[in-house]
Amino acid sequence: MKDQISRVEKEAREDLAKIDSAEAVEAFRIAYLGKKGKLTELFKQLGAVPPEEKKEVGAELNRIKQWLESSIDEFRKKVPQGGAPAEMFDETLPGIRPPQGSTHLLQQTIQEISGIFSRMGFETVEGPEIETEFHNFTALNIPLDHPSRDAFDTFYTTHGQLLRSQTSTVQIRVMKERKPPLKIIAPGRVYRPDTVDASHSFMFHQIEGLMVDDRVTFSDLKGVLHLFLRELFGSQTKIRFRPHFFPFTEPSVEIDIQWGKGWLEILGAGSVDPNVFDEVGYDKDIARGFAFGLGVERIAMLRHGINDIRHFYENDLRFLRQFV
Ligand code: PHE
Repeated sequence: MKDQISRVEKEAREDLAKIDSAEAVEAFRIAYLGKKGKLTELFKQLGAVPPEEKKEVGAELNRIKQWLESSIDEFRKKVPQGGAPAEMFDETLPGIRPPQGSTHLLQQTIQEISGIFSRMGFETVEGPEIETEFHNFTALNIPLDHPSRDAFDTFYTTHGQLLRSQTSTVQIRVMKERKPPLKIIAPGRVYRPDTVDASHSFMFHQIEGLMVDDRVTFSDLKGVLHLFLRELFGSQTKIRFRPHFFPFTEPSVEIDIQWGKGWLEILGAGSVDPNVFDEVGYDKDIARGFAFGLGVERIAMLRHGINDIRHFYENDLRFLRQFV
């Protein structure tokens, strides 16, 4: 046994002297300390050593083991670990430009519209996409039997909530939290279980607007939205107000802009219904206001001649790069 130990020690000393690479260090470690390594094998024979020699032989093996381990550690620090040697670096080569992202056309459109309203004193706020029936329907004066409450027209969660189908929910949230005067717009995603095609998506974006004070009239609605549409589509834009119905505004209108020979619907709007003021705890004899809502995709499609709503969501860089 003692002979064997000194033979292995001698071999190890010779092998150590030959090490010249990270791979050789690893090969050496496996050859001596691996599962079937030379030193490991000696440890296995320790059981057969007579009891009176066991202590001495064990100590000898441990000494060699520690010596090998510390030698391996030292080699690991000294020997190159792979990768390009430092002198390969050429600082005169041009750098690698990281690919640069850009703002999505829908976000650009939202920012542009928010900018126009912000110059008219409107503050931009946001609300949650997962909502209650109260904020999406009840407080907006939408009766229980209204078709939009149907599961065919609104996504309900299994916890009695829903994915908001309109940004009008944010009107309610803001009015419940604050007192007039208010001038806000609220951009965000809305969801409806529509079959996806060139002009429909189960998710799209709206921008809601709300102005409340004690002397806001329908003339203010007309003035603000007229100015907005001329800022967005050009100062020559012709605008038409058409009577319409929304449960949360009275009277209500749809607003069209002239487009070629025809008219295109751009906005829903109206004076805030007194029932809505009641729901949020405002005095309906004093509070006066108007609200409006528009579809962001529709506006971006019109202005840029985009013929399919799905382009917005498919992340095709050939599409997105046109709007950098
Ligand atoms: N929420 C309405 C819709 O989604 C739009 C609207 C908002 C109409 C505010 C009037 C006032 O169609």
